[in-house]
Amino acid sequence: MTTVAPLAYSPYDYAIHEDPYPTYARLRAEAPVFYNEQLDFFAYSRHADVLAAFRDVDRYSNAFGVSLDPASFGPDAHRAMSFLAMDPPRHTRIRSIVGKSFTPRRVAAMEGDIRRLARAHLEPVLERGSFDFIGDFAGLLPMDVISQLVGVPPSDRAEVRRLADVVMHREEGMDDIPQAGLDAALTLADYYAEMVAARRRDEHDDLTWSLLQHEVGGQGLTDDEVISFLFLLVVAGNETTTKLLGNTWYWGWRHPDQLARPMADRTRVTDWVEETLRFDTSTQMLLRVTRVPVRVQEVEIDADRRVLLLLGSANRDDAVFPEPDAYDLDRDTKDLISFGGGRHFCMGAALARLEARVALSELLDRVKGYDVDEAGLVRVHSINVRGLAALPTTVTPR
Ligand code: HEM
Repeated sequence: MTTVAPLAYSPYDYAIHEDPYPTYARLRAEAPVFYNEQLDFFAYSRHADVLAAFRDVDRYSNAFGVSLDPASFGPDAHRAMSFLAMDPPRHTRIRSIVGKSFTPRRVAAMEGDIRRLARAHLEPVLERGSFDFIGDFAGLLPMDVISQLVGVPPSDRAEVRRLADVVMHREEGMDDIPQAGLDAALTLADYYAEMVAARRRDEHDDLTWSLLQHEVGGQGLTDDEVISFLFLLVVAGNETTTKLLGNTWYWGWRHPDQLARPMADRTRVTDWVEETLRFDTSTQMLLRVTRVPVRVQEVEIDADRRVLLLLGSANRDDAVFPEPDAYDLDRDTKDLISFGGGRHFCMGAALARLEARVALSELLDRVKGYDVDEAGLVRVHSINVRGLAALPTTVTPR
């Protein structure tokens, strides 16, 4: 007789970092609203419940941030996360001013810049043939794209990228922000403050200048609000996109029959990216705090309780995605939940998708095939992002 282990789930568990999906399957089947007593949170794992919570800002609050991490959780979360860590009406005001500048048109116009930046990072590594896909490529491009968007000049980008990396870095097992991270955050904030002051003085063709030109109800953004938003781009748009690129590269390699499609036909790169977003997304969970008592799947939850929305699990729910554990570029992915939903829906989703399509197409244009050194893979042990810190790769040039 086989014994079944009792159902346990903690996002700090290293086994969960290795492979959370079997546990998610059990959560969806056995405890779709799971309570972790030690860490005092509820977790929703079914697609319908996660989506409903995303859409319900009246009952689920972002005001304490979106992470269980003690260093990021609390009423001051908005300082580093701007309107991501706010509820309406504060959220609505800032997001709508930002939305006047960070438009689909501005994003679409970045395609040429992204291609140029991707090529510049790819040329030296492709010449070497063997490189670390994360350290030498995917870890560099997203921050440079953000810098291009907001107007950091090319000469400052390597330093801004270094500071952003130090801000985000956590030693394994540490749940507080190290001193080096705090120092880097202050230096980056000073840098952005100077940039905002310069945009107040002179017109520039960039997002930062544009943000200062718009207002809602006669009120524009303060300098501090712009600086917090620039920080939000670093927090929300940098590591997530790095991990998306890495996960796509990795899962393509693990499924050669699927990789053959974008290899043969570049219009299928989009399906490769979308299926990876569904299959193994970089943002595995987001936190909410209940504003009022709620009842979900027969479970009563009081007000002011923490709820984790498990996006990674919702994307594998067979109520929405048939045979969810198959990596299949032909499937319908329109219901994937990797960019959230409702009023906090990811503002950078179009940029992340464009970046992934351009970067991966540029790569496939230059290689006939590639191999991954599985022994050299290093997984990130973070509760918020899922992906690789090192992905040693050898390419066969065309
Ligand atoms: C694969 C890459 C990305 C993923 C998986 C991702 C995922 C998400 C998710 C799930 C949310 C919703 C958070 C919530 O509901 O609490 C979000 C919000 C946000 N994302 Fe992204 N994101 C990505 C890339 C980007 C990029 C490239 C940018 C911009 C450069 C960006 C900017 C934002 C912003 C500003 C928000 C806050 C929206 C709000 O609170 O109204 N993201 N992202």
